[in-house]
Order: sequence, then structure tokens, then C-alpha cells
Amino acid sequence: MFLFILNVFLVASGISPQIQEIAIQNINETLLLENQYPPVSRQVDYDDLKKNMENSFTDNEKAEKFSVLDGFYKDFYYLKNINNNLSLKSFNMLKQWAEKTQTRIPKIYLSDNKKLTSDNLDESIKEKLILEAQRARTFAYAPYSEFHVGAAILTKDGNIYSAANFENAAYGNSICAERSAIAKAISSENRGMSIQKNSDIVAIAIVIRGGGGSPCGNCRQALYEFNPDMLVIMSDVDSENIIEKTLCELLPMGFGPANLDKANVLE
Ligand code: THU
Repeated sequence: MFLFILNVFLVASGISPQIQEIAIQNINETLLLENQYPPVSRQVDYDDLKKNMENSFTDNEKAEKFSVLDGFYKDFYYLKNINNNLSLKSFNMLKQWAEKTQTRIPKIYLSDNKKLTSDNLDESIKEKLILEAQRARTFAYAPYSEFHVGAAILTKDGNIYSAANFENAAYGNSICAERSAIAKAISSENRGMSIQKNSDIVAIAIVIRGGGGSPCGNCRQALYEFNPDMLVIMSDVDSENIIEKTLCELLPMGFGPANLDKANVLE
């Protein structure tokens, strides 16, 4: 599918025929890898991959790393480093296309090696997260309840995934903003179980009109999976009435992966 999009982009881009030819060569090169790529990638520990990357790329390349959709880069760092099959030329070409075609995601820029945790977030970061949740709220599809909710998830690398609630004529199919945001974060960043294992989600901001956008029980449970200690920031649409709690406070004695692990040890 991705290669199909690249092809369409190429034809529509109006770039010179020579470059198109190189591009098509590279697409073929990538196609060769396509069959083996999904199963192998699941076996790769993303942290090891990241360590590998540190040595293989220039500072400029690293700085660019998060400027477009992160998941896209991970795929191609993977192809280059693990498979060792994708030439740097193809990689750079793909990177350029990515910049043109992918949605940019908001990001908190962190100095080298700094990681965010739920208890080291300064006020400006929290404000930005709330702003992103407010922005996302304007995308809500809520014709039945007319209750618009925005949520924004922050990862330890400073990436922000925001989303809104979307409803359905079969009311029970409606999805809350918080779970839409989880879907966006997981489908952009997760490799294997890396997000859960590393507590990559450090905070979520939730915005509703009237304040007190407290996540529903389903969403608390869904979030608990990824980090029971995450910070939950609840705000009104004008950043008033801000309440902060940890997820553990909102879901005491919650059930999560740790409970399953314990059960397995006893067997
Ligand atoms: N909703 C959320 O998006 N998040 C919550 O935490 C509570 C409820 C949505 C679901 C539905 O679309 C609307 O708000 C009314 O319940």
C-alpha cells in the first residue's frame, strides 16, 4: 500500500524523469524487502534498533528524525540497519518523499538523550499538551451527543498524538477521544510491545467544555495498559479548571499486564 502511494506521488509530483527513474529503482529495491519485512520487524527490539541507529546517522539526520511521522522513519531505519539491504541513496530518497507526503506531528523538542517522565513535566509542556487537546477537540464527530472531547497523548520522546471522539449512528460504536488518541499513538510508535514495556506514554490531556473532562471507565482501563503512572491532565476549553491526577489515582488497584505476569509466575 505504501509503495502504491509512493508511486502515485511520483507520477503526480512532476519531478524530473531521471530522478523518477532512480526512484523507481529504489521502489523495486524496497519491494524485494517487502515480503520479509512485517514478520521480521516484530522480532526486533526497538531499543536495540535505536542504539544501532545512534552510530549510523549524522547529527543532522538524527535531528530530522522526528520532524515527520515517526513511524515512517522507524520502518526505514529498520530496513537500513537490521536488514542492511536498503542503500543510503534509497533511504534518503524515501525520506524526502516522507517529508512531502506525511502529516507532521507536534513535538516537544528535547535536548540530547533527555526523556520525559510523568513526574518531570514542566508547566510549558503541560500547556502545550492541553493546547493540542483543545485543537483536536475541534475535530470531534459528535452529532448525537454534541459533546466534543479532545485528548492529547505525550510520549517520553516528546511526541504528541491528539485525537477527538467520534460517534456512530449505532451509538455503542462511538469511540472516546482518549481511546482515539491511544490508537494514533500505538499505530505511529509501537513496535512489538515497546510502548507498554518502556512506559512510553507519560501523560494525557483531556479537554471538554465545562471542565472536568474525566476519562470514562473504559478509557481509564485502556490507558492503564500503557502506564499506570501516567499523568492525566483535565482541562476546560479555555485552560481553566485544570485538574491533574495520576492514572493510578483515577483507577486504584487497576488490572493491567503486571497482574497477568504475576499469575504466570505462579503457574
Ligand atoms: N467521551 C469522550 O470522548 N471521553 C470521555 O472521557 C467521556 C465521553 C465522548 C463519548 C461520546 O462521544 C460523548 O463523549 C458523550 O458521551
